[in-house]
Amino acid sequence: MIAIDGPAASGKSTVGRLLAEQLDYLYLDTGCMYRAVTWAALQQGIDLGDETAVTHLAHNIQMEIFPVREGEKDGRHYTVHVNGQDITWELRTPAIDANVSQVSSYLGVRQEMVRRQRAFGQRGAVVMVGRDIGTVVMPDAPLKLYITASAEERARRRTRDRSDQGHTASYDAILADVQRRDQIDSNRQHSPLRPATDAILIDSTDQPPAAIVNAILQMIQEPVNGER
Ligand code: DC
Repeated sequence: MIAIDGPAASGKSTVGRLLAEQLDYLYLDTGCMYRAVTWAALQQGIDLGDETAVTHLAHNIQMEIFPVREGEKDGRHYTVHVNGQDITWELRTPAIDANVSQVSSYLGVRQEMVRRQRAFGQRGAVVMVGRDIGTVVMPDAPLKLYITASAEERARRRTRDRSDQGHTASYDAILADVQRRDQIDSNRQHSPLRPATDAILIDSTDQPPAAIVNAILQMIQEPVNGER
C-alpha cells in the first residue's frame, strides 16, 4: 500500500500512476470520487449548500472506476462511470473545479468516500492518491509520500493541461482557483490537507515526475539495514 497526498496539480497523480505502472499495482485517484459526487449533484440540480442532500447523494451514488481499456485511448488515465454513464471527462471542467472543495468539506460525504476507498485498499498492492490518504484513509500504509510544488508552478501545469484538452485557459484565473482550493482544503474542519507525520515530503517544482518516481523506486528497493 502506497499513500500519496498533496495539493491540487502538485504532480501527485502522475507520480502515483507511473509508480503503479512500474510496480504493477492498482491505482486509485480518490479526487475523482469527490468530483463524481459534485458532478452528480450539479446534474440533479441539488443545492450544493444543502449538506444533507449532498450527503444522501454520496451514499446512494453508483460509481465505478475502471482501468483504461482498448479503444479508450483519448488521453484518459482511468474511466469513471456514474449510474452506468461514462463521465470521465466531465470531471475535469471548471464547474467541477469550482465546486468540489465545498462538496468534499462535508463530513458525511467524506465518511462514505473513505469507506469505499478502504474497501478498494483491501485488495492490496494499491497506490492511492488524494489529500487524506496517509492521515485518515490508510494511516498504516508503510509508505507515505506528500508531494507539493509552488502554487505558480501548479497553476502553470493546470493551464497547460486545460489547453491540451482543447479548452481556453487563463493562467491568472487558474492560479486564483488553485490558491482558493488550497485555502479551503487545508483549513476545512474534517481531514484537512496536511502531511502525515511519517510522510516523506517531496517538492516537485523543479523535478519531473519520472525523476521522482525513480528516486522512490530506488528508495523502496534499497535493502533495509543491509539485508538482501
Ligand atoms: O485531486 P483533485 O484536484 O482531483 O481533488 C478534487 C477535490 O477533492 C479537492 O479539492 C479536495 C478533494 N479531495 C479530498 O478532500 N480528499 C481526497 N482524498 C481527494 C480529494
